[in-house]
Amino acid sequence: MALRKIVHIEDDLLRKKSRPVEKFDEKLHKLLDDMAETMYHANGVGLAAPQVAVLRRIVVMDCGDGLIEMINPEIIATEGEQDGPEGCLSVPGRRGMVKRPMVVRARFQDRNGEWYEIEGEELLARCIMHETDHLDGQLYVDIMSREIFDDELEDEAEDEEA
Ligand code: NI
Repeated sequence: MALRKIVHIEDDLLRKKSRPVEKFDEKLHKLLDDMAETMYHANGVGLAAPQVAVLRRIVVMDCGDGLIEMINPEIIATEGEQDGPEGCLSVPGRRGMVKRPMVVRARFQDRNGEWYEIEGEELLARCIMHETDHLDGQLYVDIMSREIFDDELEDEAEDEEA
């Protein structure tokens, strides 16, 4: 495994639409392993392939219940609403308030191409939306209602980056 360089908001790559994965091969598995290592190393809860300069529909997440790998994820349904702080490993040192659905259902393929469904609530729902947005070139700063400043974050439990 190896750490990959995380690209930052100034890079146009983050604004491009990622293409679906078609080959579930060793190269994909290596990329997934590297992405997980890179995410954990950066203390993130999620990472999308465009953030490591690969324009493919691949995300890794760990919101506290173990590693989830999602290939070609599609949002099937959303329910409710939450408003909370959000950060991004590609937007270091910043936070914003972002409205997201409270519950998200998605389908995705695993590293071998098998289809699965996942239902996420709260942080996991937020993370699924944040990461799938990356695959379409969208960043949370595009949809945040406002920036959050450091002095507001002192007691903030959800101090996560994705
Ligand atoms: Ni992000």
